[in-house]
Amino acid sequence: MSLKDSQWWRDAVIYQVYPRSYADANGDGVGDIAGIRARLGHLRDLGVDAIWMSPWYPSPMADAGYDVADFRDIDPVFGSLTEAEALIEEAHAAGIRMIVDIVPNHISSEHPWFKAALADPDAKERDYFWFRPGRGENGDEMPTDWRGEFGGTTWTRTPDGSWYLHLFTPEQPDLNWDHPDVRAEFESILRFWFDRGVDGIRIDSAALLLKDPALPEVLEDSPHPFHDLDGVHEVYRSWRRIADSYGGDRALIGEVWMPEVERFANYLRPDELHAAFNFDFLGCAWDPRLMRECVDRTLHAHAAVGAPATWVLSNHDVTRHVTRYGREDTTFSFDNNLDGTPVDLEVGTRRARAAALLSLSLPGATYIYQGEELGLWENENIPPEEFQDPMWGRRGHSRDGCRVPLPWTGDEAPFGFTTATPWLPQPAEWKDRTAQAQTGDPNSMLELYRSAIARRREESFSDFAWLDLDPAVLAFCRGQDFACVVNMSGAPVALPAHQSVLLASGPLDGDRLPPDTAVWLRMTS
Ligand code: GLC
Repeated sequence: MSLKDSQWWRDAVIYQVYPRSYADANGDGVGDIAGIRARLGHLRDLGVDAIWMSPWYPSPMADAGYDVADFRDIDPVFGSLTEAEALIEEAHAAGIRMIVDIVPNHISSEHPWFKAALADPDAKERDYFWFRPGRGENGDEMPTDWRGEFGGTTWTRTPDGSWYLHLFTPEQPDLNWDHPDVRAEFESILRFWFDRGVDGIRIDSAALLLKDPALPEVLEDSPHPFHDLDGVHEVYRSWRRIADSYGGDRALIGEVWMPEVERFANYLRPDELHAAFNFDFLGCAWDPRLMRECVDRTLHAHAAVGAPATWVLSNHDVTRHVTRYGREDTTFSFDNNLDGTPVDLEVGTRRARAAALLSLSLPGATYIYQGEELGLWENENIPPEEFQDPMWGRRGHSRDGCRVPLPWTGDEAPFGFTTATPWLPQPAEWKDRTAQAQTGDPNSMLELYRSAIARRREESFSDFAWLDLDPAVLAFCRGQDFACVVNMSGAPVALPAHQSVLLASGPLDGDRLPPDTAVWLRMTS
């Protein structure tokens, strides 16, 4: 495969590596770069176009690495910068691009900037953050009542009596993006990684950077004080100029949680980000009408700005979709905690297989979260005392269940992930979900993903159009002779006439498509 194609992000298959949980080579129970390099063949055989690497920088790990203490190095738990460079080179040699994760909204409280700011109220670094006096007579009330992104409060008091803002944990102080030094620093960090050959940047919490300096409360009919402020677009315009200065094949991919699709699409205007994760699709119910509306909404919003859509089913922050789709309520939102509600993993797995064919044939780029190709479900049986996620305790939901180390080989935990005890426990039932157990089994999730990605590469998908079939199915074509049909109804439906089956997510019932099953078809007339 050639890495020369420009605009590769428009239709790439991008695999998210969560480095703590991919593979551990040094036997400390936590995944590392050496482990990723040793198992790069898995990604080559899967056929992905790019890897998005969740943060691997030095970090006290208050938020699993999303609290970065130094953006120009690698945490020793993962390895070294030299190893990271070797991985970038080896991935490129295997035809796989590399995307790194940049977290601009906040840094670690252990970052030298924050330490300097705490040590001396007159330090210039003080202005890189949001230090404010408290309210009330003694200044002992927080400057605002803003609710944090993980729930809870957003201000912490320092020994000198002032307060600093953190939309996430106290170990993640928010940066002041009105300060030119902050902007210059991140521009330099982008260049640091582009200079090392990375092909893209995933931008964490991309809509949160700017804050209204008047610090008003969050009120229903007033502009939001820290979400999606207009000024943030200027930051991304400057980042786009930097990306473009590298020859036009470096991509910026935003994590933009935004219910209003028009506001979302603003981030994807031609001089801003190249792509953004489609959380509307991720959270959508397993329902043909809602799913169809979501696809329409997505395509319409992206077409308006000329950006490619993305299709995302899972990531390291959300309940794995095998579990979500096995529940009665198949939606996802952080405000709707469904932990512990009954799950039918058989139904969830069947739907996840169908969703794989759906997400790999809709127009745009498809994101795969590590382990989804193995059909992993959420580990809902982690004892709370083993939880590491700071969201637990603030929102009553832990993201650890979707971050469990991958099962590679063997019949029992740790399934070849490590020689030690994995940092989170793996379900014993994953013995059937190891990469080894699934390889060569035509009915496995892994072989479904491999076949679908290989077929997607061979097809030259073109224009998207809905097919008029039973309203309980989702059916569309991509050009003259390729069609995808997903049955989201509870009953079998007839397949269209004049076709042959290219790939099916499960057994067919003659010329009928069973419930929760998808097919890719070659239309013959
Ligand atoms: C993003 C990340 C999440 C992290 C948060 C704070 O949402 O995906 O894992 O906790 O930002 O950086």
